[in-house]
Amino acid sequence: MLAIIGGSGLTQLASLDLIRREVVRTPYGEPSGALTFGRLCHKPVVFLARHGYGHTIPPHRVNYQANLWALHQAKVDAIISVASVGGIRADLCPGSLVVPNQIIDYTWGRKSTFHENFDEAVVHIDFTEPYDLALRQRILAAAAAAGEKVADGAVYGATQGPRLETAAEINRLERDGCDVVGMTGMPEAALARELGIPYAAINVIANFAAGRAGSASGICFDSIDTVLREAMGRVRHVLDHICEA
Ligand code: HPA
Repeated sequence: MLAIIGGSGLTQLASLDLIRREVVRTPYGEPSGALTFGRLCHKPVVFLARHGYGHTIPPHRVNYQANLWALHQAKVDAIISVASVGGIRADLCPGSLVVPNQIIDYTWGRKSTFHENFDEAVVHIDFTEPYDLALRQRILAAAAAAGEKVADGAVYGATQGPRLETAAEINRLERDGCDVVGMTGMPEAALARELGIPYAAINVIANFAAGRAGSASGICFDSIDTVLREAMGRVRHVLDHICEA
């Protein structure tokens, strides 16, 4: 069963035929909300709103461990994360969709592993390719079949938030090689890898990153809502095709 973790702009899936909602407890505490089980194009899926169904949980307070553990308990075999980002690379302008292929993690103080006890052997995961290659291809193929333009590959810079970045921080991220910037990609991807669940993401560019193009003198929050509303329609279209395939 496929899991979809929805971020800002995607707190529910309109085309989901709802089967049941399940409040799950985990050894790591409570997930962001109930797991919503249903069918998308006749295929079973489970949906989880990363920031809660009322969008009340900020990126640095999301219980990523509980979210991932809950999906693991539900025996999902793949996770697609949908997350909004700021665009750094010039071609990634508001409304664009991209399937990232790399991550640089700038977050701090988040519980970023399931292996933090001194009474177990040290665990290192291979994270050379942070996103599952086959799942990335599945998303890109579905997007092509749906006729939706989705860019292939971007380096995702994960920042702490909840504030947006300074223009100088974005310059630094660009020098580091980041193409997009978001606040929730980590530790989510690493925790999925620890649990052995294939994980990939669809990033929606909500705004030019701080100091860039239309955000040269500040980020306009009003236009973000409009951009996300339109772009999430295209994301839903891609998700439908993933399930149809
Ligand atoms: N920075 C970080 N996260 C974001 C942004 C941004 O500009 N836009 C949407 N999520």
